[in-house]
Amino acid sequence: MTVITCIEDLRQLARRRVPRMFYDYADSGAWTESTYRANQEDFQPIRLRQRVAVPMEPRSTRTTMVGQPVTMPVALAPTGLTGMQHADGEILAARAARRFGVPFTLSTMSICSIEDVAEHAGPGFWFQLYVMRDRDFVGRLIDRAKAAGCGALVLTLDLQILGQRHKDLKNGLSAPPKPTLANLLNLATKPRWCWGMLRTPRRQFGNIVGHVKGVDDMSSLSAWTQQQFDPTLNWRDVEWIKNRWGGKLILKGIMDPEDARLAVESGADALVVSNHGGRQLDGAESAIRALPRIVEAVGDRIEVHMDSGIRSGQDVLKAWALGARGTYIGRAFLWGLGAMGEAGVTKALEIIHKELELTMAFTGHTDIEKVDRSILIPGTFPTA
Ligand code: GLV
Repeated sequence: MTVITCIEDLRQLARRRVPRMFYDYADSGAWTESTYRANQEDFQPIRLRQRVAVPMEPRSTRTTMVGQPVTMPVALAPTGLTGMQHADGEILAARAARRFGVPFTLSTMSICSIEDVAEHAGPGFWFQLYVMRDRDFVGRLIDRAKAAGCGALVLTLDLQILGQRHKDLKNGLSAPPKPTLANLLNLATKPRWCWGMLRTPRRQFGNIVGHVKGVDDMSSLSAWTQQQFDPTLNWRDVEWIKNRWGGKLILKGIMDPEDARLAVESGADALVVSNHGGRQLDGAESAIRALPRIVEAVGDRIEVHMDSGIRSGQDVLKAWALGARGTYIGRAFLWGLGAMGEAGVTKALEIIHKELELTMAFTGHTDIEKVDRSILIPGTFPTA
């Protein structure tokens, strides 16, 4: 097998090993995918200042995210259907993250349930919440996350209605896949994936099926989202969620300074500058361009994190230099998972960590806490 040296290698391997509908689900954006592309492309013009003849050891990328110690400012993002990229995907990713010393965030729309991940990967992971019309169910999800010992609640604000991703509709995305001829032919080319899936009982949305009355088949994500997600979600609900949860609260999906100010007023502990990986509003600004404006709007009244477009440790450092005290990787870890299971997630984290600490050293720093905007060449980075 070829030597894996970067996230792109993991992507290529995942593409060969993961059934097409799940590979496409991760590697897609809404409509024309212009925001999906911009999220990555807008990192490229940002240039770093190379420094020489400065001490380069020992190096530390340690910091905290919402008060929790992390070995680098990178968390695993909440991603739907992770257990369809690889059997037991959420448990494997949570284990890899725990061993590496970074947070894993379990999506509401996961395959493995909150309880299952806590039992098989240990407590302390973060839980991402979607707000459904059925508030009793939402309340119970929060209580379950609390009972499982989750370390933070990540409330997603930008997906009360689902952006259209053409590939999902064309592929007939569902979990588990329907036994159509096209699916069976594709699955026949993915023996590792099939073997894993045959051996696990976890093949449905574990947080939902069996927990909501009358829901025993929600295989079509888009139909279920349309029926159940609550488009009336507002800042009063955020307050209700904050009170019910009582722990660290992170608000995800903030792209506008006005929303950032409201996030501060809500009393949340952190916000995530995110356009959902370009999967919701196509035409939205890239997250890295939006970041400095949000940082300026909120100052240090709230911790600012970002996701959408991070594919390397260099991206992490650039985001950090522009004021993100934490970042999240979604596709980068999913490709590792799809390519090689738990070892692939560890590989993705190792790749990003190495790129981060080497880049930091080349810019003349040994401690990430001391890195700021001065590592960037003026005129090459977005400003407020
Ligand atoms: C939801 O989690 C999605 O982006 O598909």
